Amino acid sequence: MALPGLLLFSLALVLVGVVSAQHPLNTPNPSIKYPTQPPRQNPFIKPPGAGYGIQTQRPYNIAHRGANNVYPEESEQAYKLAIDLGADFIESDIQATKDGVLVCFHDIGLNLTTDVSTRPEFASKLTTYNDITGGDGTNTDWFLVDFTYDELKTLKLKQRFPYRDQSFNGQFSIITFERYIQIAQEANRVVGIYPEIKSPRFNKAHVQFPGGKSFEQAVVDLLNQYGYGGPYLTDRWLAKPLFIQCFAYTSLLEAKKYTDSPLVFLYDSLDARTQDTNETYASLSTDAAFDMLKSIGVVGLGPYKANIQPINTTTNYYSGKPNDFVTRAHNKGFEVHPYTYRADTPQLVFDLHGNFFNEFIYFDKVIGVDGFFTDFTESAFQYLEWTHPIFTKSDIYQTLIFQ
Ligand SMILES: *[C@@H]1O[C@H](CO)[C@@H](O)[C@H](O)[C@H]1NC(C)=O
Ligand SMILES: *[C@@H]1O[C@H](CO)[C@@H](O)[C@H](O)[C@H]1NC(C)=O
Ligand SMILES: *[C@@H]1O[C@H](CO)[C@@H](O)[C@H](O)[C@H]1NC(C)=O
Repeated sequence: MALPGLLLFSLALVLVGVVSAQHPLNTPNPSIKYPTQPPRQNPFIKPPGAGYGIQTQRPYNIAHRGANNVYPEESEQAYKLAIDLGADFIESDIQATKDGVLVCFHDIGLNLTTDVSTRPEFASKLTTYNDITGGDGTNTDWFLVDFTYDELKTLKLKQRFPYRDQSFNGQFSIITFERYIQIAQEANRVVGIYPEIKSPRFNKAHVQFPGGKSFEQAVVDLLNQYGYGGPYLTDRWLAKPLFIQCFAYTSLLEAKKYTDSPLVFLYDSLDARTQDTNETYASLSTDAAFDMLKSIGVVGLGPYKANIQPINTTTNYYSGKPNDFVTRAHNKGFEVHPYTYRADTPQLVFDLHGNFFNEFIYFDKVIGVDGFFTDFTESAFQYLEWTHPIFTKSDIYQTLIFQ
């Protein structure tokens, strides 16, 4: 290229640069601002309002600890958001404070998901317990059962996973089981609840319940007080949907003394042992064990998803085909609600290409589960709505705001 040509070419490049810099999308416009509180509700999937019952024609969207992909788990905000984003059920872990108040919190220790370690007034409550069984976490912590409710409610929640939004840490408090029930009942449509009687052996060993009640009775009494009851899919159940879940079947048996609501037995990984009877979850996955669970009134099974679709933890690929757990459970008439469906990349096996919807297609269309415990209510709703639609064009149109 001759020198004048090169000069012209360079000039042209500069001009192209100037023109693209002036493109409106590249020009800051101070008059266009996102609201300071970003809209969290997706207008396309807000379910219709008053009078709309729970759907039973497609797998349940169970908001595991609320929409904790956005807000810290089990906070009022996480539950309300899950309701806005299309949950059929909001799910919670029920534990008890030192003075017997039932609260929503997952771990028996407070350190991982609250600010307790930064609170000098509670420094003396850091302790070590040697009666902690598998799955319940570390021995040294600040334990929920050592806090009165008045103390506990001063703590602030924080996000469990480092790869999620940390900006809401320090803003929200632990809520009571009663408040959780009220949040479901205050929704503008029927929203089910799915409380877990959490770590019953540990909670019972450390807490005296008012009136000498058992932990399970205390949980069920509050449910009864709020009008829950009735076998699965009866009119009474449909008006106030409820599943009571636990990893310990003796606690389900105890709960059953006080309620006819449907019970769900949860499965930890197959080699883990139950904290009440010290049996492996593998031994509770046989046909004979299914018959035993059926005989005590269990209607649903909640397996860890890798129990039904084995994963090679070395390679992070599925290791072979799904096993026959779901087929056998369906043959016995159980529903199967596996846990936990999470869209974050570190939580997905490589077979799925980092894509949450691939996991849903697989567990829905290939394995055929009846519900999904998921941290990602909104994505689950989208999958279910695209593949098993219930909302009409006018339902969706009504929820859009035109300004
Ligand atoms: C509590 O959590 C903090 C991180 O927030 C950690 O640095 C500390 O070691 C933890 N303390 C205990 C006793 O586990
Ligand atoms: C549970 O059973 C295993 C295997 O028999 C045994 O090693 C373990 O000590 C038992 N745990 C308790 C708490 O009894
Ligand atoms: C998991 O993958 C590794 C590496 O390919 C292999 O050696 C191992 O046998 C696999 N384990 C199972 C249980 O398939």
